[in-house]
Amino acid sequence: MNLKFLVPIMLIAFLASCGGDDNKPKTTTSNTPKKEVKKEEVKPAETTNADPMSNKGIGPVSSITLGDLDAKLVEKGHEVYKEKGCTACHKFKKRLVGPPLQGVITRRSPEWIMNMILNPEEMVEKDPIARKLLEEYSAPMANQNLTEEEARSILEYFRTKE
Ligand code: HEC
Repeated sequence: MNLKFLVPIMLIAFLASCGGDDNKPKTTTSNTPKKEVKKEEVKPAETTNADPMSNKGIGPVSSITLGDLDAKLVEKGHEVYKEKGCTACHKFKKRLVGPPLQGVITRRSPEWIMNMILNPEEMVEKDPIARKLLEEYSAPMANQNLTEEEARSILEYFRTKE
């Protein structure tokens, strides 16, 4: 008589232990949020690379319209470039203390270039492109205390170095 009751009890005990196994998948699903976090970490670095020509930098220059090349301004820019010591750190085709400046006009906006010349300390601290350059060159761009007019003339000179 007692055996008839034992069989269903053993069945229940067996099913209950199977139910215990069902809990295992829950521990594996708790690992998935970690993977999602990793994906999010990658995003900010990608967005800083977005279209460098739309970045105007940080400083006094907010809007520049380039007209036809002004030969007199190019000449003045060349003089200022030599007088203000830019050549101590820059060449056009080779890396020196700073980056080679050949074609800089094609990879940075005119406003960004002037702000880099006029306000390098803040640029190197806050602007994403300038910060990366500082990381790469590990020497900070020096402020040569140019006027906005002088910086504009150098920009014109750079237009001849595409
Ligand atoms: C003491 C060295 C030094 C002097 C002097 C200097 N620079 Fe620089 N320049 C750098 C460095 C280094 C960088 C890269 C950014 C950084 O590390 O701060 C740079 C970056 C630049 C950039 C950005 C280049 C790019 O590829 O985006 C421009 C434009 C520039 N300098 C123009 C000038 C001009 C114009 C002068 C003169 C008025 C000048 N620099 C004087 C060291 C110098």
